[in-house]
Amino acid sequence: MIRLLSEEGLFHAAAEEVCRIGQLSQQVTGRFSFVLSGGSTPRRLYELLAEHPYRSELDWTRVEFFWGDERAVPPDHPDSNFRMARETMLDKLGVPPERIHRIAAEMKDLDEAARLYEVEIEAVLGRIAGVAKRPPHFNLFLLGMGEDGHTASLFPGTEALDESERWVVAQDVPAPISGKRITMTPPLINAAHFIIFLVAGAKKADVLAQVIQGTRDPHRYPAQLIHPLTGEVAWMIDRAASTSLIQHQRKEA
Ligand code: 6PG
Repeated sequence: MIRLLSEEGLFHAAAEEVCRIGQLSQQVTGRFSFVLSGGSTPRRLYELLAEHPYRSELDWTRVEFFWGDERAVPPDHPDSNFRMARETMLDKLGVPPERIHRIAAEMKDLDEAARLYEVEIEAVLGRIAGVAKRPPHFNLFLLGMGEDGHTASLFPGTEALDESERWVVAQDVPAPISGKRITMTPPLINAAHFIIFLVAGAKKADVLAQVIQGTRDPHRYPAQLIHPLTGEVAWMIDRAASTSLIQHQRKEA
C-alpha cells in the first residue's frame, strides 16, 4: 500500500499507524516490539509519539524498542541512531531501560556486537518452537530509504544483501557514506508482522520510483529486498518524494 501525504501529514499518519499497530500487538500479546529506523526522516515522528495525543495511545512501559541498524559510534555520539531516538522520544516517554535494546556499536569487535544483538533479540522475542534459527517476528519494523535505494544499512553491492542465515551483521559501508555499520538482515526484517517505509523529500523521488515500479534489481536498490513473508508493508511517502511515481499507483490520502 502506498499513502501520499503532506510533509507534516506524513508524520501524523505514521504516528497513528504506530499507535494502531502497537495497540493491536499489546491486546494480542501484552507487549509491542518496535524496530526503529535511523537517519533524519523519523525524527519528527519520534517527537510526535512523545507528545499528545499519541503519547497517551500506548502503554510505553510495554514496548520493546530495537534498532534496525546503527553506525559504529558511541551511544552519545551525534551520529548515533540510538541517541537521536533517546533525545526525541525515549527519555520524554520515560521508557524503562530494560525495554531499550540498543546495538552496542561502540564495541571494538563489531562482529561480536552483532552476535550479541542476535542473542538479545532471541532472549526478548523468543525462539520459534521446534524451528532452529528461524527469525522471530517483530510487531513493527520502521524503515527509511537513502537516495541510493539503501534501507537500514543494507547498501548497494554489499555482502549483507545476500545474507540468508544471520539476523544481524557488521559490515563496511561503501563511499560516499563509508565507515562501519551494524544492520539487521533481510531474513529478520521480512519476518516482521508490519513494515512501514517512511520516505520524504524530492531528492528521493527518482530512486523511489525505481524501487517500487522499476525493474527488480535488489543489488542496485536494496529496498527491493523488503517483502514481508506473511506481514504487510506500507509505503508512507510525502508528495515531494512521490513525483516520479507513475500516476496509476498514486493514491492521494
Ligand atoms: C541510517 C538509517 C538509514 C536511513 C536512510 C535514510 O542509519 O542512516 O537507518 O537506512 O533510513 O539513510 O536517511 P535519511 O532519513 O537521513 O534520509
